[in-house]
Amino acid sequence: MFEGKHVLVAGGTSGINLGIAEGFARAGAAVSVFSRAEEKVAAAVERLRALGASAHGGVADVRRPEAVKAVLADAVAAHGLIDVLVSGAAGNFPAPALGMSPSAFNAVIGIDLNGTFHVLRFAYEHLRKPGAAVINVSAPQAFMPMTFQAHVCAAKAGVDMLTRTLAMEWGPAGVRVNSLVPGPIDGTEGMRRLLADPAQKEALAKTVPLQRLGAVEECADVALFLASDAARYVSGAVLPVDGGWSLGGAHVAMASVLATG
Ligand code: COA
Repeated sequence: MFEGKHVLVAGGTSGINLGIAEGFARAGAAVSVFSRAEEKVAAAVERLRALGASAHGGVADVRRPEAVKAVLADAVAAHGLIDVLVSGAAGNFPAPALGMSPSAFNAVIGIDLNGTFHVLRFAYEHLRKPGAAVINVSAPQAFMPMTFQAHVCAAKAGVDMLTRTLAMEWGPAGVRVNSLVPGPIDGTEGMRRLLADPAQKEALAKTVPLQRLGAVEECADVALFLASDAARYVSGAVLPVDGGWSLGGAHVAMASVLATG
């Protein structure tokens, strides 16, 4: 389905982003990935090649515009103009706002929000126009306030507004921009950091209307959809892949009260 296409995934060397890169590799795309850690890049490229894909890796911190420019130019030299750009580099740690130094807050804003801007801003000239699809990997924190996540909430709300404003600015050139919002996805770094205990996972699953955590492959499937011709009239969308979790709903808010009744 993506034979002859170049898919670039920023942050595509672990977790959901690597799963998305692998999904496109299985669908026949040439895939480029980059992140900060050289050994993760090498391992990701190996996994993508094992799937039969032509894979290219680069090392850059999305907080550094010059490094982003260089890594994008290398990827384009390897695989040509970019048909699908996925921007997913992210950082997170749980802490109350009063436990965050300005540098801690800036670390997450710098990676998630400014990093997304750098990737999109400097990839634009390399996008195949018309026809390119841009996917920003967001998070439910963009629209669900969450304690211990002030930095991520602020950053991802900004990411979704970048999605919407750039969908407007770049639509006339035939570039679609959408956000994919993974909910509670099993086996990810984020989940490992937040939920160590299996009982916590079970309790979380009960708050999801579909009654289970999601899988990385389920995020990849939606990324493939958003990049495909089937989504050719979809732009500026913020699409949760979360089994309905971010609906919240009174039953979740009332769960502890109802449990006592
Ligand atoms: N609580 C409070 N502050 C914290 C913290 C925590 N758990 N973890 C890091 N910080 C602070 C640091 O103390 C530092 O602030 P300081 O300069 O005032 O001491 C600031 O955050 C930056 O930390 P540093 O380790 O220098 O930044 P980094 O750029 O190397 O790392 C992070 C970025 C902080 C986001 C780190 O968690 C990271 O690399 N994460 C990547 C993986 C990840 O988060 N995956 C999950 C994605 S959902």
